[in-house]
Amino acid sequence: MVKIAIMGHGTIGSGVVEVLTSHVESITKRAKEEIRIQYILDLRDFPDSPLADRFTKSFDTILQDPEILIVVEVMGGLHPAYDYVKSCLEAGKSVVTSNKELVAAKGAELLKIARDKNVNFLFEASVGGGIPIIRPISQCLAANDVIEISGILNGTTNFILTKMINEDMSFEDALSLAQQLGYAERNPAADIEGHDACRKICILASLAYGKHVYPDQVHTEGITNISLSDVKYADAWGGVIKLIGEVSKTQDGRLQCIVCPMLIPRDSQLANVDDVFNGIMVRGDATGDVVFYGKGAGKLPTASAVVADVIDCVKHLKARKYLFWEDGGKEYVADYLDKEVSLYVRAKAEDPDELCQKAEKTFGETTRLLRKDAEPGEAAFLTPVLPERKIREKLSVLEQQGIEILNTIRLSDF
Ligand code: HSE
Repeated sequence: MVKIAIMGHGTIGSGVVEVLTSHVESITKRAKEEIRIQYILDLRDFPDSPLADRFTKSFDTILQDPEILIVVEVMGGLHPAYDYVKSCLEAGKSVVTSNKELVAAKGAELLKIARDKNVNFLFEASVGGGIPIIRPISQCLAANDVIEISGILNGTTNFILTKMINEDMSFEDALSLAQQLGYAERNPAADIEGHDACRKICILASLAYGKHVYPDQVHTEGITNISLSDVKYADAWGGVIKLIGEVSKTQDGRLQCIVCPMLIPRDSQLANVDDVFNGIMVRGDATGDVVFYGKGAGKLPTASAVVADVIDCVKHLKARKYLFWEDGGKEYVADYLDKEVSLYVRAKAEDPDELCQKAEKTFGETTRLLRKDAEPGEAAFLTPVLPERKIREKLSVLEQQGIEILNTIRLSDF
């Protein structure tokens, strides 16, 4: 029998208990050991839980119990999760977590401690909820050089954009519906401003390329500026707007990594990933495009990924699973403004035809987008492919000519 502790009894934590207690036979068979939940750490009381006698409010009880070999951290947030996880690893206990904030901020440090102590630190549930993505990247696709990863990594924003695209719903109404349905994080800023997607692409980038990418190195834009007008221009162009986390390698060996809304052509594999679903495309040099799709959030999908990691830990108590990346350093992520892109631009001027002529003159060539019921005095166009810094300089020239730039959105290359 292997005794484990679970830190946190919120949505995911109670899901982990539910999965472990409702699949005892099959889990025991797969782990080749019985898994006993010895402690559940939470500051609240759960007198009606069938495991009421296992609850504790004392982290030290878990830390100091030598029989606890595996600790599950599903508290979320950085503090006190970071201190607890670090202490557990230093004490020679394997840790499984779903905490993307923790892995994105402290992954390299915690993986090093796990390696030094010959224990496991696993986090399949931190990206994509129940979608297998950490193991496939670190194991199944290990023979590839990863050319690019592009993903719809946040279910809440994908739900909001889907409502805007399919039902003409305003951003505000779609956000409040997402909150009513319990999709949005406690603080919706983490979703709608792109921070949640940023943490997830940092984890995937670190894993795929072997060095830590920290959230503050990644240019991050959310979806709060996307209007129904943008959605309709995207439709007229032949695509949709999605919040994308993307990473690729530059020629000098650094990474380009960004989180931002992108215009995606309708025939792209990610264009039809709708509602709260996530879709992650990994472009390998040998495999070509491999796409992972499924529920990126929710109690049981996420708990299922956590429990799979626990089973893996039980099976590898002595021989550690290889999952590792090292610190990346300040210069590891290149400036997003150096990347060549094409931008969709929506702008305002008294005379839209004149606006487009000025844009054409400034950029050399542009593609004007036309849509039904366009706002008066508004036009949209696509720039040619140029380093983004150059495009921004040219847009400033247009602004000096009295044109108001209302929004810009990058075009995807997939
Ligand atoms: N708020 C997150 C999302 C939850 O909407 O995807 C899962 O990380």
